[in-house]
Amino acid sequence: MFAVVLLFLLQGAGAVVPAVSELDPSLYVGRWYQISADALVADTFELKAECVTADYALASDPTYGTIIKLVNSETINGKLFNITGYAYIANESEPAELSVKFDEYVPSFATGSYWVILLGPVVNNQYQYSVVSDSTGLSLFVLARDVADYAENYASTVDAFLADNGYADFFAPIATVQDDCTYAPTLVQASSYCPTSPVMFHAGCDETVTFENSCSDVMAEIVARVGGQYETWSDPHNNGTYAITTQTDSTIQLSRTTGNGEYTDHMNFVFDDGSASCVVSACSESQVTSLYDYGTNHCNLFSLYCGTEDSCPIVMYDLTYTEKINSCTDATTSCVASSV
Ligand SMILES: *[C@@H]1O[C@H](CO)[C@@H](O)[C@H](O)[C@H]1NC(C)=O
Ligand SMILES: *[C@@H]1O[C@H](CO)[C@@H](O)[C@H](O)[C@H]1NC(C)=O
Ligand SMILES: *[C@@H]1O[C@H](CO)[C@@H](O)[C@H](O)[C@H]1NC(C)=O
Repeated sequence: MFAVVLLFLLQGAGAVVPAVSELDPSLYVGRWYQISADALVADTFELKAECVTADYALASDPTYGTIIKLVNSETINGKLFNITGYAYIANESEPAELSVKFDEYVPSFATGSYWVILLGPVVNNQYQYSVVSDSTGLSLFVLARDVADYAENYASTVDAFLADNGYADFFAPIATVQDDCTYAPTLVQASSYCPTSPVMFHAGCDETVTFENSCSDVMAEIVARVGGQYETWSDPHNNGTYAITTQTDSTIQLSRTTGNGEYTDHMNFVFDDGSASCVVSACSESQVTSLYDYGTNHCNLFSLYCGTEDSCPIVMYDLTYTEKINSCTDATTSCVASSV
């Protein structure tokens, strides 16, 4: 029965839609929500799946160079499932013809090629939608950054493209349910200033903090907190131990070991004094496999600059700032233990 269906599909396939000519992986990473998929996908390996998401993050691999690690998640009867793997560009001349490998077995037509056949505009350093098929043209996935924004701004363009390219009848897109969803935590998108991690799936926090203070005061305070550990300053979040690994005029790189000595995270701060305020790009990444972090990576950064307003201990300067979270596993600000 299954073989018969596949045979029908192969005969029914129209012309293969070519991949787009350009794709910048750094604009492709982050969380995607599946808007629709064709019956080949929706009625087979995504049968009964709702709330389907894909998380992509850049990583480096000794064999393939830059890879995009991936976590595809979905719920079936309210329960979350996922599959992990990675994609890589096999031929630099064809950057939108990716090859995908999953960590577990999935039907062969779900592995192999991942061709981006239409890409939306870039907003906030992210492509806004992506239409994905493969080298046979049989599978179809429509992904977007925001379900409501997609419906309002991009759906008509994509629908017209799909109709023009033979994604009709059996290959017509079937809408994916994205209502009342409980989503899996997102993978951290590693910005260029992130410290990187040797493991694929790990927690992290990437943020931009704008200080009213000068960058030299912010840097001096961070250095003073680390240098004053246990005597003039103790980490208010579980009494971890920080160490500065590298410092330049505009960067501070650190590591932090948790109070129990078990886990080490790496942190980078990049300071930009260009405008009236001091803008700091800050990122912390866990160095071990971890999906939830209960705010640790955010606290790793926050504890080094938070002020008396947040009940944080300070050494030299009480800093004033606003935070913009770019992507954090958990961005809790409850970093100050009541009794430390
Ligand atoms: C995938 O699901 C398993 C089992 O529920 C869970 O332990 C794991 O954390 C999930 N992985 C990702 C990357 O979401
Ligand atoms: C890479 O793609 C280019 C352009 O399509 C093609 O000419 C070339 O043969 C490909 N290289 C390999 C190794 O497949
Ligand atoms: C924090 O940890 C250090 C070293 O492990 C220890 O010397 C210090 O007493 C601890 N401080 C508190 C407040 O627990």
